[in-house]
Amino acid sequence: MQWHQFDDEDLQACKRVLDSGTLCSIGGSEVPAFEEEFAAAMGSPLALAVVNAMAGLHCAVVASGADHGDEVIVDPMVTFAALGALYHHCRPVFCDVERDTHLMDATKLPELLTDRTRAIIVTQAWGLCADMDAINGFAREHGLLVVEDCAHAIFATYNGTYAGTLGDVGVYSFQQSKQMALGDGGMTCMKDEGVRTVMEEMITFGTVPARLGWNYRMNELVAAVGRVQLRRAPEYVRMCQRAAAHYNEAVAGCEWLVPQAGRPGRVNAYHIWTAIFEGEDQGISREQFTGACAEQGLSVRLGYIHRPAYAHEPIAQYLDEEPHCPVAEHLMPRLLMFGTGGDPQAHVVNAEKLAAVVDSF
Ligand SMILES: Cc1ncc(COP(=O)(O)O)c(C=O)c1O
Repeated sequence: MQWHQFDDEDLQACKRVLDSGTLCSIGGSEVPAFEEEFAAAMGSPLALAVVNAMAGLHCAVVASGADHGDEVIVDPMVTFAALGALYHHCRPVFCDVERDTHLMDATKLPELLTDRTRAIIVTQAWGLCADMDAINGFAREHGLLVVEDCAHAIFATYNGTYAGTLGDVGVYSFQQSKQMALGDGGMTCMKDEGVRTVMEEMITFGTVPARLGWNYRMNELVAAVGRVQLRRAPEYVRMCQRAAAHYNEAVAGCEWLVPQAGRPGRVNAYHIWTAIFEGEDQGISREQFTGACAEQGLSVRLGYIHRPAYAHEPIAQYLDEEPHCPVAEHLMPRLLMFGTGGDPQAHVVNAEKLAAVVDSF
């Protein structure tokens, strides 16, 4: 199978929708069918389709019962969770990450809790689940809703259970760069009917909404293609995992390129393969490294968004003072990332180039 294969089956799905004349999920049958099939694939009791993952994060924050000014604990390596909190005028409170996994450090949660904390949004970053036992345990103790941002982690598992079904709400993205791509689109999974009702009230209304609704619906064409792509998505994820294995092999034994660490019982979906460049400790500068990559014809960019989410103005403008997450601040400018999608052979070649770069020092 090809990466992001769209073929006659997808065309037939679109034709089915066009023939029906109903392209909107109101009155349509594809969106409910996609929700049911997605929930079944994930082993979740409930699902709700949304226009994109950001809409899912926003709705989940509302479903936590948070009021404006309440607090949502988020991780700082990406902006999405903080933005989801800010969409509901909540204050994002930043939890630092573990140095080896790049994931929310659950041991830091107690010091962030206040009487205004309502939810935790944990990013299953790059494709790996955070310490969900610890995060769920803490949340249960304090009555917080746990939202998993699984935009990178569709079909990742944690002790055999799929990412997005470990907390209270799981949010997935079908944006074009993701393992399962529908151009744009998102899905949410949840266990609680009440949570789903609030989120559904957020995503659809005709005239006067039941609450401050946003019309975040998915349309029927996206859902119809989604039903086809869902069956192919596990293979897309396996392609990503195979690509990541080549990169892991390329840096095996290298002390200054440290790939995202795993944990027993967790299977990484590897939307992105990442490593931290620790060359400066070994006398290798960033310029020497990127120069060696360029010599091999390997295009690399260290740093992703360079600084934690809280240092970026669209988020910083809403914070009273700049938070400090020393581990994230160390990791962010040193992040080396390779997307794992696309032509599998290209990853074999890139991994060989990376191995040659490592050998050259
Ligand atoms: C971790 C994470 N969360 C959320 C999103 C937002 O996804 P969407 O484009 O579907 O809103 C992205 C998109 O890149 C992402 O990487």
